[in-house]
Amino acid sequence: MTGRTSLTIVLAAGEGTRMRSASPKVLHPVAGQSLLAHVLGAAPKGASSALAVVIGPDHGSVADEVRRLRPDAATFVQRERLGTAHAVLAARDAMTGGVDDLLVAFGDTPLISAATFARLRAALEKGAALAVLGFRAADPTGYGRLLVEGDRLVDIREQADASPAERAITLCNAGVMAFDGRQALPIIEKIGNANAKGEYYLTDAVAIVRQLGLEAVVIETSEDEVRGINTKAQLAEAEQVMQARLRRAALEAGVTLIAPETVYLAADTTFGSDVTIEPFVVIGPGVTIADGAVIHSFSHIVQASIGKKASVGPYARLRPGTSLGEGVRIGNFVETKAATLEAGAKANHLSYIGDAHVGAGANIGAGTITCNYDGFGKHRTEIGAGAFVGSNSSLVAPVKIGSGAYIGSGSVITKEVPADALAVERSQQTNREDGAKRYREMKTRDKPPKAS
Ligand code: UD1
Ligand code: MG
Repeated sequence: MTGRTSLTIVLAAGEGTRMRSASPKVLHPVAGQSLLAHVLGAAPKGASSALAVVIGPDHGSVADEVRRLRPDAATFVQRERLGTAHAVLAARDAMTGGVDDLLVAFGDTPLISAATFARLRAALEKGAALAVLGFRAADPTGYGRLLVEGDRLVDIREQADASPAERAITLCNAGVMAFDGRQALPIIEKIGNANAKGEYYLTDAVAIVRQLGLEAVVIETSEDEVRGINTKAQLAEAEQVMQARLRRAALEAGVTLIAPETVYLAADTTFGSDVTIEPFVVIGPGVTIADGAVIHSFSHIVQASIGKKASVGPYARLRPGTSLGEGVRIGNFVETKAATLEAGAKANHLSYIGDAHVGAGANIGAGTITCNYDGFGKHRTEIGAGAFVGSNSSLVAPVKIGSGAYIGSGSVITKEVPADALAVERSQQTNREDGAKRYREMKTRDKPPKAS
């Protein structure tokens, strides 16, 4: 593939009305990323690989997603939905520079892999003018059928135009195609709309290639790789396929998953060596887990980095902006957000740590809350290295606790605590001699105690 330039055009102008959602179809997520992000992630990258995305009118949010993922990509608006060939021509301006390989993919097939794009391009390198991705459909209804003679692809027949004999064919068009870039534009411009739907079908390119005496070939793949998403049920099926892939890849990379089928990963989760994930853990986007870390059951983690040998959960919630250093311990019912905990810091039970920096080796007692929000703005809490925050303390931000300081349990801390100071903020305890005894006697005078 070295040296060949490419342009990938991703068609994403579909309305996705069958998703019954206010957001465009290609923005729905699988494994924590939009359908479009998966397709763009698989498309060729690098200096010799251009990208264009065709979107529908009023799809500003899709254009935003393209910009976020591939700032170098061009977006084109297809004003009227007149078919897949018409959609490709909406990106005509991206084609005029001339490329070796023109690839067309659909924005709603998130399971496509980079290796498949490479296989299609390899067929062009061997001399084909057009390589079409095909698959054997369990139920071919609705797909374009691939008409082959020997190993040559001669035509594609859309469902609405197919004869009963053609409808019996199970080899189907996945939708991904690779054109020899020198021929692509004149071929696609020849496509007409004389068919049952009156649409400009990109699939008609095959017959045109044949008429020109050029070669079209089929590259086969599995149905799982080319599932198109039109409904929420299909979205859920794609999620299952993607999760199975991610779990297998994690296991192959040496991650211990005790019950893999109960762990949800994101497409961008990264793992060090000897990571263990217990059953029923949900990992969202932007998570890195370093060597030897253990994630205990029922934890939920999004946009967080977990240091070496850290321990998280059970029942922990790490929200965006969490960064845990080496050996940090986050225990049950602890929530963190925009919080850095340096090496060896501990919050073992029932805490909220938000907009905070916790120094190395600090201990956050059970029930500690950083009161980071006053109803108007968010404020930071700084806790120094080796500080000890007694249980059930409220740290009212903005506030600083110096290194080595000690906070007495139950304190409401509103002022800075200097390093190595002891801060206690609670009312004096009074003990009344025999007070409990006298209280019980008073109460039982009228009424005997309940049998327990
Ligand atoms: C298409 C193929 C069919 C193939 C199937 C695979 C054609 C004519 N048919 O059929 O052979 O088996 O996909 O899933 O290509 N789009 C636009 N603008 C348009 C029309 C479509 O951007 O005017 C986009 C859609 O957003 C979608 C893709 O092109 O991402 C495919 O369109 P869709 O209507 O789903 O085509 P199918 O009928 O599924
Ligand atoms: Mg479709």
